Amino acid sequence: MSLKGKKILLCVSGGIAVFKAAALTSKLFQTGAEVKVLMTDSATEFVTPLTFQTLSRNDVYKDTFEEKDPGSVAHIDLADWADLVLIAPATANMIGKLANGIADDMMSTTLLATQAPVWVAPAMNVHMYDHPAVKKNMNVLRSFGCHFLEPGEGLLACGYVGKGRMAEPEDILSTLHIYFNSPSDLEGKKIVVTAGPTREPIDPVRYFTNYSSGKMGFALAEEAAKRGAEVTLITGPVSLSTPERVERIDVVTADEMYHEVMAAAENADVLIMAAAVADYRPAYIASEKVKKSEGSMAIEMERTKDILWTLGQMKTNQILVGFAAESERLDEFAQKKLEKKNLDLICANNIKSEGAGFDKDTNIMTLLRRDGERLELPLQSKHDAANRILDEVIRLDVTRK
Ligand code: CTP
Repeated sequence: MSLKGKKILLCVSGGIAVFKAAALTSKLFQTGAEVKVLMTDSATEFVTPLTFQTLSRNDVYKDTFEEKDPGSVAHIDLADWADLVLIAPATANMIGKLANGIADDMMSTTLLATQAPVWVAPAMNVHMYDHPAVKKNMNVLRSFGCHFLEPGEGLLACGYVGKGRMAEPEDILSTLHIYFNSPSDLEGKKIVVTAGPTREPIDPVRYFTNYSSGKMGFALAEEAAKRGAEVTLITGPVSLSTPERVERIDVVTADEMYHEVMAAAENADVLIMAAAVADYRPAYIASEKVKKSEGSMAIEMERTKDILWTLGQMKTNQILVGFAAESERLDEFAQKKLEKKNLDLICANNIKSEGAGFDKDTNIMTLLRRDGERLELPLQSKHDAANRILDEVIRLDVTRK
């Protein structure tokens, strides 16, 4: 593992996990990174600046007004110097300040001034971590593009057991290593992904839906964002958290999804439709709860708009990717969809095969390209499958140029 030559600004805010930040400083230095440490006043109550100075072999910063070099403004200089800013530990207070644009000390000021990627390693009491205000602030930071290093679970210094323990220095190091070494081959591309099921209401309490979990679409959105794409994820109702650096739009019905996709499609380079959109919806939605009566009942259904087909008709230069979930004659049915919907690529999976299907974390897929190329993927995680699909998107993009 090497972070050789990477300039890391380590922002240490005040909590008992400051002791872990000292170990982190040492490890960052050992992997070849250049580390500068910025501390809040309360952090210095736990571990002295001298410890960090010794471990980082650099001056430690904490006071906005203590300008060490008359030729520069320290907080701006630090903000510009960093390749990456790591807030570890990140207290609820510092997370709140950054989420709300507050700059009342050197750390919060530097954090607003930097254009480097910001990574946040929260550490706090389990109830604080669960507080809606903290959750909201963390979501705001996610929407700003900050990355999170999830805290671990276990016995906390306050005596509680739960989530809130700062991520381990080794895990932080390996995540940063992957981050710095991951390909950014989708940089500059705008990608729209749909995910999850849709819900088609019958009355105020009932709806039609399907078993889609949204995992495949979310994996695609996450991996595309990691590879540098600007991703818009339009999702039906799912219980998945938003991947980092992904713009998420929540919808409920097929019709809502249609409108959001059409709006997002205008500027997109790639459209990947992984949602399991309802093909039919009730022709009438009862405004009051439908009461049961003797005998059977029938609900008249009407077709929804086919989003993917519409995109295929409108297509100019975009790459259009569809999904086909089949239980028989996989290639034949998938190929028909590819042609009918004017796609560049279709990802076909047999929902009956072991390891594939709606709520699984794995998938087995066959990718069919418009030019007749056929690629059989092995059983693999939905994230790995997502990367293979994205590899294919890149290939299509390169060959059309
Ligand atoms: N799709 C869509 N809009 C719809 C329905 C489907 O965009 N209203 C997209 C899905 O996101 C997926 C592909 O179309 O990429 C699935 O094709 P489809 O023909 O709808 O598959 P099935 O619903 O399984 O249809 P069939 O009953 O013909 O197998």
